[in-house]
Amino acid sequence: MASAARAGMITIGPDLEVRRLGYGAMRLTGEGVWGPVDDVENAHAVLRAAVEMGVTLIDTANSYGPELNEQYIHDAVFPYADDLVIATKGGLTRSGPGKWERNGNPEHLREQCEGSIKRLGVDAIQLYQLHAPDPEVPYAESVGALAELQREGKIQQIGISNVDSMQLEVASDIVDVVSVQNRFSVRDRDSLEVLLACERHGVAFLPWFPLAAGQIEDDGAIASIAAAHEATVFQIALAWLLARSPVIVPIPGTASLAHLEQNIAAAAIRLNESEMRALEAAA
Ligand SMILES: NC(=O)c1ccc[n+]([C@@H]2O[C@H](COP(=O)([O-])OP(=O)(O)OC[C@H]3O[C@@H](n4cnc5c(N)ncnc54)[C@H](OP(=O)(O)O)[C@@H]3O)[C@@H](O)[C@H]2O)c1
Repeated sequence: MASAARAGMITIGPDLEVRRLGYGAMRLTGEGVWGPVDDVENAHAVLRAAVEMGVTLIDTANSYGPELNEQYIHDAVFPYADDLVIATKGGLTRSGPGKWERNGNPEHLREQCEGSIKRLGVDAIQLYQLHAPDPEVPYAESVGALAELQREGKIQQIGISNVDSMQLEVASDIVDVVSVQNRFSVRDRDSLEVLLACERHGVAFLPWFPLAAGQIEDDGAIASIAAAHEATVFQIALAWLLARSPVIVPIPGTASLAHLEQNIAAAAIRLNESEMRALEAAA
């Protein structure tokens, strides 16, 4: 069986020790990340299989579904294993399939966090991430709301998402930011500067769309490297992320048991320097 243990460990913040290959649960929702999945049994099976294969970090958000994604996680894997970290997020609202609105209002964040605590059936959220800065609310105010929830014991550690380096600095002046979740993959390196800032400060970097949302063409350098490893281009995309930086913790998403197993098996793939160079050059 594939094992996430092959990816090694990372300690996020002072105390969240997880395997360096996680699982992003967002795909376990209806079309447009809205409404229920067609096959709830499959969603539960994927979540259980991830844990069985050694995943100790599951990423979700109250806005996935909304709410349903957190509920599936609870229903599939509660009571949680001692080493399982469930990271969720607040700060977005939903008005329909594919529609996302930012809301970084402190009262709203508190309401969302308290809802996540209830749905996940925990006393405190282990890693609570501010989903995105809200241009209508000063970023420091939104981050300050999470700081207050942390002081009250409702949040263990704080992460941020969809930020630039300045926003990382603003947040880090207010709280100990332990993780950043930005879009990043072998096909999309716009967040490189933020990744480098995370490396300098020892902050974990959770790339979202680590598989470029499933849009990696089976051609060029990545295809020949995949062939050499008897792997898929998606597995090479994950191996590249794992090799790219020790602070990277990929959270690939899938609703497929077969893809889940392939993604976790990628933890065992080791790319050599010339393969890394070829992939860097092929962006
Ligand atoms: N912070 C944010 O703003 C933000 C935004 C987006 C996502 N996220 C987080 O990041 C996680 C990952 O993002 P994502 O799931 O959207 O994108 P992703 O991991 O880049 O790609 C998922 C897509 O790739 C396909 N796929 C997965 N494994 C595959 C494989 N082995 N072979 C071929 N196709 C494969 C999936 O289809 P199948 O289901 O058919 O496998 C799905 O369409 C999410 O679950 C969520 O937790 C965060």
